[in-house]
Order: sequence, then structure tokens, then C-alpha cells
Amino acid sequence: MENKTINKIKNSNAGGKCIDLEDVKGIGPVLARKLREAGITSVRTLALMPPRELARITGLGESRAALLSASARSLLKMSLIPAKKYKELKASMSKLTTGCKALDRLLGGGLEPQVITEFVGPYGSGKTQLCHQLAVTAQLPKRSGGLEGAVIYIDTENMFSYERIEAIAKRFGLNPDTALENIFYTHAVNSDHQMKIVKEEAPTVIEEENVRLLIVDSLINHFRAEYLGRENLAVRQQKLNEHLHDLIRLAEAYNLVVVVTNHVIASPDMMFGPTEKPAGGHVVAHMCGYRIWIRRASGGKRKAMVIDSPKLPESECEFLITDQGIIDVT
Ligand SMILES: Nc1ncnc2c1ncn2[C@@H]1O[C@H](COP(=O)(O)OP(=O)(O)OP(=O)(O)O)[C@@H](O)[C@H]1O
Ligand SMILES: [Mg+2]
Repeated sequence: MENKTINKIKNSNAGGKCIDLEDVKGIGPVLARKLREAGITSVRTLALMPPRELARITGLGESRAALLSASARSLLKMSLIPAKKYKELKASMSKLTTGCKALDRLLGGGLEPQVITEFVGPYGSGKTQLCHQLAVTAQLPKRSGGLEGAVIYIDTENMFSYERIEAIAKRFGLNPDTALENIFYTHAVNSDHQMKIVKEEAPTVIEEENVRLLIVDSLINHFRAEYLGRENLAVRQQKLNEHLHDLIRLAEAYNLVVVVTNHVIASPDMMFGPTEKPAGGHVVAHMCGYRIWIRRASGGKRKAMVIDSPKLPESECEFLITDQGIIDVT
């Protein structure tokens, strides 16, 4: 068991290099301040931002935005590299343990940084419990499968429980107060608030507090409630797409593990009768790198199943929810 206070590493980024916005060709102190105020706090975020979006949020002309973005990419040497080098880069990135061996195995060794992992399932299946557990395991030392980092927890359903964090922290040998101090929590009250936190507040907190995991529980709640009916579906999907792109950009810029939860909806099937499918349609399906379906099983157990991944086989495992969090079935 580990009992370790996190050393907060200021301004660390994916490459571990400390390059400032002012190092980018064409950016002076005034423009750097403007970019930071717009939530573009690192060269990597600038490099990843589409020029159109950059122009929109900063008020710069599109061609100037394109030049800045290209300068940032060139500074970071974002060009074609041998796949062997890509493999080495990926191998150097730590995965995050779930604290449950069966789930880690299902996920190919834990949760991968730089992609979105989606946990989808009906009410009471254990999505929020899992988010709480990850908010603790992210703080563990690397030798215990953690990321030695802080966490941003965006709660759209008002279901966060500090009691659960305290209980899970104790199980993993962490000081419960320290565990809570390292979770930057907010209750997002509507979809606009949820999107603004990711766009405007998160980048600074990620940089200053060494955040390694960002959770949105749930991704879909406000979008479903606010954009009712077929006539609003296209706008909802557009907004959701923008939000997921913002999340991916953060994941890539800061080497974060990003976890979102999702609801299931009824899907009438002519052949098999009513079935269930993840909410959010193709947009969520395309943007989430790993999709894990959770459901209740017999004896209070839960089953987790990989339903979509570029490299994991469709497989299944079991786990239990206890007072100390998610554990293996023994
Ligand atoms: N302290 C505890 N000890 C044991 N089991 C618990 C504890 N707290 C919660 N649970 C279990 O977790 C379940 C709730 O799981 P959770 O809140 O993660 O569901 P969810 O998938 O997030 O659902 P929703 O879609 O409604 O948000 C409860 O039904 C209960 O079975
Ligand atoms: Mg929940």
C-alpha cells in the first residue's frame, strides 16, 4: 500500500519540454496573453487547434491564425515519423489502472492516454462508481499503476460523492484529504457550462496542477435534456461533436486520460424487438477510442464488455462494486 503525497509538477506537457507560447514565431507577450485568456495555454494546444476555431475564439484573421498554428506545429516538429518512433512514444506513455485486474486486462493494461474512453450502461450499472475509483487511482504512484497526477471531475448529474472518494482512497493507502485536494471538481449545470469548463477553465488547471485524468460524468445528460425532439437533433450533434473535439484536443495536448460516461437508449429492432444502444449516435461512436459497456449481472456482480476499440478484441469481464470501490470477483 502506498501513502504518498503527489508532487505537483508545474507546466509539464506531453513532451516534457517547457516551450512557451512566446517561443512560437509571430507571438509576442501581448498576443501570448490574449491566447492564454482564450484558454490556449500551451504550444501544443495552439498546434492542435484548427485555424478557423483559433480565429473565432481570438478574433485574429484566419490567415494569421493559420500561420501561428503552422509555426507551433513546426516548433513541436509535428511531421511524418517512422512508425517505430511512434511505437516508442506510445510505449513511454503510462496507462492508468482501474484498480481491478480483470478490468485492466479487458482494457489491454489500463486506460490509454490521448484518447477518450467511454463507459456506457444503464442506470445503476456502476459508471459513476468507476469514475470515483479512477479519480483515486490516477493519483497513485506509477509503480502502482497510477499517473501521479491530479484529476478534473466534471459532474453533470450531481452524483459526485466525497465519501466514496474517501473510502476508496483509504483502500489504496492514500490520505483521504490529499485525495480530495487533488480532484478539481465542478457541477456543470447545463451543456453550455460543461463546454465552457473544457474550453476555458480546464487548460489552466491542467497545466498548473499536473492533471493527468479528466472525467465527464455524464457526457450526454444535459445535451439530451436540452435538445429535445428530431428538429433539434442536428444542432445537438453539432454541439456534442464540438465538445468531443475539445476533449480530444486536451487529451492530445496534455497527454491526458479522458473518461466519459454515456447513457443507453431504447433501439426498436424489427427482428429482435426492443434492444438498447449507447446514446449520442455516430458522433460519440466515432470520437471515443474505447467503448466499454457495463451492465448488472447475477449476484450483484457487474459485467464489462468491449464494444468498440481499434485494437482490443470484443471481450468481457466481471467485477464487483463494494464500499471500498470496484474490486475483482474472487
Ligand atoms: N457504498 C457502496 N457499497 C456497495 N455498492 C455500492 C455503494 N455505493 C453504490 N453502490 C452500488 O453502485 C450502484 C450505483 O452505481 P452508479 O451510481 O455508479 O451507477 P451509474 O451507472 O452511474 O448509474 P446512472 O446512469 O444512474 O448514473 C448502486 O446501485 C449500488 O449497487
Ligand atoms: Mg452515474
